[in-house]
Formats: sequence, C-alpha cells, structure tokens
Amino acid sequence: MAAQIIDGKALAAKIRDEIKREVQELNTDGIYPGLAVILVGEDPASQIYVRNKHRACQGLGIKSWQYNLPATTSQQELVDLVKSLNTKAEVSGILVQLPLPPHLNAEAVIETIRPEKDVDGFHPVNQGRLLAGLPGLVPCTPAGIMELIKESGVRVEGSECVVVGRSNIVGKPQALLLLQQNGTVTVCHSRTKNLGEVTKRADILVVAVGKARLITKEMVKPGAVVIDVGTNRLPDGKLVGDVDFATVSQVAGAITPVPGGVGPMTIAMLMKNTVEATRLVMR
Ligand code: GUN
Repeated sequence: MAAQIIDGKALAAKIRDEIKREVQELNTDGIYPGLAVILVGEDPASQIYVRNKHRACQGLGIKSWQYNLPATTSQQELVDLVKSLNTKAEVSGILVQLPLPPHLNAEAVIETIRPEKDVDGFHPVNQGRLLAGLPGLVPCTPAGIMELIKESGVRVEGSECVVVGRSNIVGKPQALLLLQQNGTVTVCHSRTKNLGEVTKRADILVVAVGKARLITKEMVKPGAVVIDVGTNRLPDGKLVGDVDFATVSQVAGAITPVPGGVGPMTIAMLMKNTVEATRLVMR
C-alpha cells in the first residue's frame, strides 16, 4: 500500500494562521514581534532561505529587518551588530544565517546572541536547556518535525526512533525531542556500521545527512513514518531528499515529500519562536 504523504506545506500554513492570530492579539496590547536576520556573503541557497523567512514574517504581520553584510565582514563587525540588536527593544528575535564565510567563527557569533532572542535555538544556553528538558527556544527544524510526526498520527512514546545525522542543527536536538516524548532513540551517522539494519528497526525514521537518496526501500520497516530533512540538488537540477521517495513510499506508512515536507515547517517554527522570543524578552 502506498504511504500517506505528510503535507508539510498544508500543516505549515495552518500553523502560520494560528501564529498570525497570536500576533494580532499581541498587537492589540501594543506588542510587536520583530525578527532581525543577518546574512553574510552571497551564498545563493542562503539568499533564498533568508528571502523566504522575510516573506513569512510579512505574511504574519511580524516586523523584519534584513542585514546583508559583505563576505569580507570581520568577526568584530558581526559581533558588534549582534550586540547592538541585543539591546534594541523592537527586535525580539535575531537569526544569523549559516553557513558563515570560513574566516568567521559561527560559534563565537552565536554565543553573543542574547539567549532570549536566539530564535534558532543554537545558543549553548538553549542547547543546554533542551538537554536538561527545561523550557526554552528549540531549533526550528526538529521542532517542526515533531509537529509532522504528530500529524502522521503515530505515538512517539514507546516507539523505536532512529535519527540519521548528528548535527547540532537537526540530528542532536531531534534525538533529544524524541527522547523527551519517551521514544527509544538511536542516533546513526557516517561511521555507523550496517546502517540499513539499524534504520529498519525504526517506527519513526528521521534522516538529515545531505546525501541524495541514501535511504532505500530495503532500509525501511513496513509501515514506518519517514521524515526526510535532506535537500539535495542533482546535476540535472532536480531537488531530492535523503530518502529515495519513489521506492520508500511503497513500504512506509507515512512519508514527507521533498520539497513540501520539512522545509515549510522549519519556517513556520521560526515564526513561532519569534513570537515566543517576544514574550521571553519582556520577562
Ligand atoms: N542554515 C541552514 N539551516 C539553518 C537554520 O535553521 N538556521 C540558520 N540560521 N541557518 C541555517
């Protein structure tokens, strides 16, 4: 039987609607959420992501400011900009688009963001809060994936969850969120032996490695929920995920498409975090 396609675009639209209403309510109290996005250099993919974030803000009545800095920007200049945004009351959220040019130290920049304004959830304080199970700003992609899993109807509690990829942006926070909901979590990576044997145990499989069509049908348990975080551009220009959608969708119970799965949810969660940051900053 063909898998249920989890429509991330539709779910993201629904969540954005809810956020829009929340923003309107805040506005009536004289509170205006605002997001500052910093882009250093001219990476074409980053330019698209930043534009999409800006558009999402516009659609929800969230103020946004875009800082396009040249690739030659120094660490000090970037840190100074972040510090000045930290002090601006109208800026509730600050996002530094990654990757940064190689001469810049991303970790050091992120550490200068005031944790309450860290809408990416990348600051060590927010990472630590997530690790400890305390409330805080959670990275957008894994947060969006938890919503997609909920939408699929599967229960995380007691499920075998396998996360492929161990990045600080997706894999690690994803594993923690699944654990928080009482999943039995395994994290795989490039050194994992017999990857397919491990992934085949998964009731819930999240793949975030950036390798086109890494996960094939043989590696997936029949009926599993498969979440594909990958966005890989093939030589012919086609955009594909880390999961071989054509074959895996024959065995999975539910699967996210690429595009139209995880991507739109990431941005919806960024909007949610921006509203949340507005509340945190006021405290
Ligand atoms: N680059 C790729 N994904 C992300 C993200 O979630 N946040 C930021 N700031 N940069 C990214």
